[in-house]
Amino acid sequence: MQNKKINYLRNCWYVAAWDEEVKPGEMLPRTFLGEAVVLFRDSSGRAKALADRCPHRFAPLHKGQVCGDSVQCPYHGLRFDGSGHCTLNPHGDGRIPRAAKVTAYPVAERYSLLWIWMGDAERADETLIPCFERMAPDEWFVGKDYLHVLSNYQLDVDNIMDLSHIDYLHSGTLGSPGSESAETEVRQEGDTVYSLRLVRNERLSPELEKRNGVEPGSRFDRWLDVRWEPPGVMELIVGRAPTGNPEPRNVGNAMYFFHLFTPESETTTHYWFAVSKHKSGGEAAKEAVSSDIQFLKKPFETEDLPMLEAQQRTMGCDADFWELKPVLLSVDGPGVRARRVLDALIKAEQEAAEVGQ
Ligand code: FES
Ligand SMILES: [Fe+2]
Repeated sequence: MQNKKINYLRNCWYVAAWDEEVKPGEMLPRTFLGEAVVLFRDSSGRAKALADRCPHRFAPLHKGQVCGDSVQCPYHGLRFDGSGHCTLNPHGDGRIPRAAKVTAYPVAERYSLLWIWMGDAERADETLIPCFERMAPDEWFVGKDYLHVLSNYQLDVDNIMDLSHIDYLHSGTLGSPGSESAETEVRQEGDTVYSLRLVRNERLSPELEKRNGVEPGSRFDRWLDVRWEPPGVMELIVGRAPTGNPEPRNVGNAMYFFHLFTPESETTTHYWFAVSKHKSGGEAAKEAVSSDIQFLKKPFETEDLPMLEAQQRTMGCDADFWELKPVLLSVDGPGVRARRVLDALIKAEQEAAEVGQ
């Protein structure tokens, strides 16, 4: 049987948490790529990540407590700092056994998020963190939320890369019927894939008309442009302009959304989503992001999640996506391109590891 880890890219940054999810003095247990991790902050507030397993009798460290720069195991009190070294053995002569250490994962805090590196620690380079400057908290108000999804993260990526589903799955909320005439384009720059979608002369759903304060029946050209970066983080720009301009993207207004996926396991995913508005918009912008994120959570939670989880159940736990021979439609171009890029990166990483062995 193949090693399951082959399906993960390891030497890259994954989202681990919203910055505010890891509070001083507390521990947050979370599994990434099938590995149990505990996140915490040291006494200076820097986020740290350790394997959530004490090397003594394998107690989960997150059941213990944060003591200064270390976490204390709940079972017999060994302490480990953010580098994974044992800093206290309260037993016997206090000597620290050489094997008393845990795996430490590099962590970086950027764009309102904590990022974790699950690969070779010495290769962790913060300049490789995908750019999400429209979530930088000093300049942007960011409405944030999180969902846990019982499906593979690549299905979740497909869901955002092919937004034709909004006209069916979200017909009463985010989509509108009759926009099959979308102009779509897939573009690739290096390992970044863009899924561009423009619908002309569209009437927004009554729900969106109300939320956006537009005259019922108004016609717009609306675009939904996604930027995907491996392994599964995306910025979605949604804009609209009064219909009729040949280049609506040049004249309309845009809003920014974020969909960030990290595999918890082969069949479960951490899903962070967000909306941001520039702080120059003042109090109104601040209120809008919190209202927007509440509005969005409902269709994500009650429409997308059940579909994604049903897909996973239908596919089965051990299924290989390509071996199931999915029918490919024109709308699948961006999602398939992203899968191909990721597959190639994983393959290259595996081959490099084999050469190095
Ligand atoms: S299991 Fe952690 S100190 Fe014993
Ligand atoms: Fe959706």
